[in-house]
Amino acid sequence: MALKEWMDFACYLARTSGALLLERMDTMRTIDRKSTRSDLVTDADRASEALLVQEIRRSYPTHRILGEEGTGSTDDLHQKGLLWVIDPLDGTVNYAHHLPMYAVSIGLLHDGVPQVGVVYLPVMDEIFCAGVGMGTTRNGIAVRVSDCVALSDAVVATGYPYDKHIDARDNVENTARMIKLVRGFRRMGAASVDLAYVACGRLDAYWEEKLQPWDLAGGLLLVQEAGGQITGYDGGPCGLLAGHVVAAGPALHPHVLDVLQPYVQKHGIVGNLKSV
Ligand code: IPD
Ligand code: CA
Ligand code: CA
Repeated sequence: MALKEWMDFACYLARTSGALLLERMDTMRTIDRKSTRSDLVTDADRASEALLVQEIRRSYPTHRILGEEGTGSTDDLHQKGLLWVIDPLDGTVNYAHHLPMYAVSIGLLHDGVPQVGVVYLPVMDEIFCAGVGMGTTRNGIAVRVSDCVALSDAVVATGYPYDKHIDARDNVENTARMIKLVRGFRRMGAASVDLAYVACGRLDAYWEEKLQPWDLAGGLLLVQEAGGQITGYDGGPCGLLAGHVVAAGPALHPHVLDVLQPYVQKHGIVGNLKSV
């Protein structure tokens, strides 16, 4: 397998699309709503996906692609072979509001197993990269998750689903509990950045549900290869289709799961997509 070649290519892709996003940020663009009033898509999301797809098809015509803005199908996650899972702009609400916390997120799976993960933040010019068995780097330097052992010493982050206005599974109870227990609480607004920041120890933990495969595919491997624990709310494997995730250093991870248990008992665990 050409792991190093794929890692380099994924970094090239992320930097190329990231440059496009940065260039367009301050120019006129369309902002459309998708599922709810919080779920936005801009012309930059679509242009970034078109560029990524064009580049992947040019270099790897036999590989499949799953992209947030309409490329491929989640059924591809069940197929054998190589699959690129791309979020061409993670953090669209930030982007549309001129907030700098957004990223391009790219994962490469083989038979459903992550091989490469890349998350690139164009404004910060930071690229996080992992290859299976090869560790995680930030701008080429190896990083590790934090060794935090207690919530009282932790800075943690989460996110809220786009249907929070209409569904009681809105994560608010979890936040209310957690915020009393931790040193600091943050809401980055881009799941891939949350995962990259756990991987390099800036965040001690992150949890969220109702995520989509493209939100997770790049960052999942970053956390694993940086020595972190990444599971579902039930402590089982973090499935790309299940969409619920708890990521932390190994010592802190069980404490985060504990805080989420009342919510899990009240609401149960549901996958994000029907095909789970
Ligand atoms: C969203 C961001 C956000 C998370 C949402 C995602 P998008 O992705 O990652 O942090 O809370 O669940 O959908 O729509 O900006 O690509
Ligand atoms: Ca996303
Ligand atoms: Ca997106």
